Amino acid sequence: MKPNMKNLVKQAAADLNGARHVVALTGAGISVESGIPPFRGKGGLWEKIDPMEFAHIDAFLQDPAKVWRVLIKEMKDVVDRARPNPAHLGLVRLEELGLLKATITQNVDGLHQMAGSSDVIEFHGNFAWQRCMDCQNRTETRSLDLTRIPPRCRCGGIYRPECIFFGEMIPPQHLSRSQSLAAQCDVMLVVGTSATVEPAAYMPVLSKQTGSKVIEINAAKTPLTDSVSDYLIKGQAGDIIGMIVAEVEKIRSA
Ligand code: APR
Repeated sequence: MKPNMKNLVKQAAADLNGARHVVALTGAGISVESGIPPFRGKGGLWEKIDPMEFAHIDAFLQDPAKVWRVLIKEMKDVVDRARPNPAHLGLVRLEELGLLKATITQNVDGLHQMAGSSDVIEFHGNFAWQRCMDCQNRTETRSLDLTRIPPRCRCGGIYRPECIFFGEMIPPQHLSRSQSLAAQCDVMLVVGTSATVEPAAYMPVLSKQTGSKVIEINAAKTPLTDSVSDYLIKGQAGDIIGMIVAEVEKIRSA
């Protein structure tokens, strides 16, 4: 481990262990090591398909079958196969140690909950559930009959995923709770997000403005790095969070 990385890991462990109230904000980068590609950057989904053509609510309402074909091909199969990685499990350990109070995630893959995180705000919804656009009947994605596209409810209505499409509002209860957590925390751990999509990207800014320390873990720099984050630990989330947790355990056993 490079000296600087070693120091940053030790710094993060000390900051987390000394914190009163830690909140995490996570993005697609935390699930990359679970086999789910990110949206942006190299190998990103939006490099393959235009998000405004396939992930905007207007596009879905205009041609649900077209969006469903791509959603299934590009998301369902990948999410179905994915399992939590050491980064998800490390956040659970920080929760067990009483440090991490809540996780605000932009991910719709459900991997934080599958790992055992108890307090997760699904800021952009979840792909595990579908809702009929006519009668609002809900059903689990895994029980959907996908032999017919778009999948339909028994009332004849078309199912849509309970994810937030571009052009849609963040559920008010998720937004307000995330804002209060961001303002309350004294350390925000920002993991694997390009911090380019609002209002999620504003949470670290709000935390900083209310006196928190912002620790960023990402494979690359983001717009937060030189303006909001106290420091960036650059690398794979699974490796870094694993090292930080080991360091926290070492501090506590000393
Ligand atoms: N470990 C840590 N960071 C990683 C890793 C990894 N293994 N792999 C990629 N990253 C980083 C990238 O450097 C990038 O900064 O994760 C980030 C992923 O960014 P995006 O793909 O833009 O994902 P995210 O920030 O979650 O996107 C926000 O945009 O498309 C919408 O609704 C979608 O929730 C999503 C939102």
